[in-house]
Amino acid sequence: MGSTDAVILVGGLGTRLRPLTLSAPKPMLPTAGVPFLTHLIARIRDAGVRHIVLGTSYRAEVFQSYFGDGTALGVELEYVVEDEPLGTGGAIRNVADRLRGDTVMIFNGDVLCGVDLRALLARHHDSAADVTLYLTKVPDPRAFGCVPTDPDGWVTAFLEKDPDPVTDQINAGAYVFKRSVVEAIPAGRAVSVERETFPGLLAAGALVAGYVDSGYWRDLGRPADFVAGSADLVRGLAPSPALPGPAGEALVLAGATVDPAATVTGGTTVGAGCTVGAGAVLDGAVLFDGSRVAEGAVVRRSVVGFGATIGAGTVLEDAVIGDRARIGARIELCGGARVWPDAELTDGAIRFSSDL
Ligand code: GTP
Repeated sequence: MGSTDAVILVGGLGTRLRPLTLSAPKPMLPTAGVPFLTHLIARIRDAGVRHIVLGTSYRAEVFQSYFGDGTALGVELEYVVEDEPLGTGGAIRNVADRLRGDTVMIFNGDVLCGVDLRALLARHHDSAADVTLYLTKVPDPRAFGCVPTDPDGWVTAFLEKDPDPVTDQINAGAYVFKRSVVEAIPAGRAVSVERETFPGLLAAGALVAGYVDSGYWRDLGRPADFVAGSADLVRGLAPSPALPGPAGEALVLAGATVDPAATVTGGTTVGAGCTVGAGAVLDGAVLFDGSRVAEGAVVRRSVVGFGATIGAGTVLEDAVIGDRARIGARIELCGGARVWPDAELTDGAIRFSSDL
């Protein structure tokens, strides 16, 4: 069977999470006190896979300076940098010469899930598939491409988004490949694994298996999912071996100061060095390190970037505040409002719900 390598794709621009991803790539954004990628690396390690290659492009240097050779997490990490983003398939092909075994587990770097990776690998080997895809079922599959399987679990098609989907199974962003399949992807150009490689494999008669798991799954690509995924980690609803266990309603990191008269619930994370004033309400909030929330402010399902300040009595709901932004007192930012890094909003009873 040979050994198994893991590849994590972390080179995307993370545009849907801007402005947070202007300063850090999406997989490096803090969730429950550590960069998101830490949770995934720990899960891969716990599945017995120790050699992990990161396919990087956007802000490539940030990964290596934080994770180094991986020793601290008990793995061996290698980095491959794309000068130009090669897409998901091109990124996989681009790491082919670093692979050591015959089997490769491949992960999108922004998925939080509880699938049993050992069982996924076992299914791949038992079925002798060329590729095995982790599939998850979602309540509303209309927003996703769908992946139907036959009664024996073989994938029959890769379908584009459809208002009337034939199945609720979608690609969950983790795969097992035979190494030979990686080597067959065209080199040196951009390739989408979803749009080109998978449909091409089916057309060529390759054996593509689906492994359906209905446990925890969330793609953290959008602000609402990032906030919800972070809260799920804090509350222990999303499993992560990188955490000591569920923190409960709130995770307050070292050096943070939360006034006893503040209410902190909903899986909120208060980052290192943050301050939260009296009467503030944090519900499902993510405060990055060094941010400050003044007295009486309300922060629900929102992210407050590194070093940002939120004025007294201000209300944030479903908002994203960029690093070092200064939001004055008595302002309402709701319904997907995003404030760019270093922006300053002066005090006032004003309400915004668009980009600033
Ligand atoms: P959006 O710009 O918001 O769509 O985010 P994204 O750039 O991360 O794209 P998407 O969520 O579709 O990517 C899925 C995964 O593949 C993420 O973990 C990305 O980091 C990764 N990824 C996407 N494109 C590339 C690429 O060109 N090269 C590499 N190495 N990884 C990629």
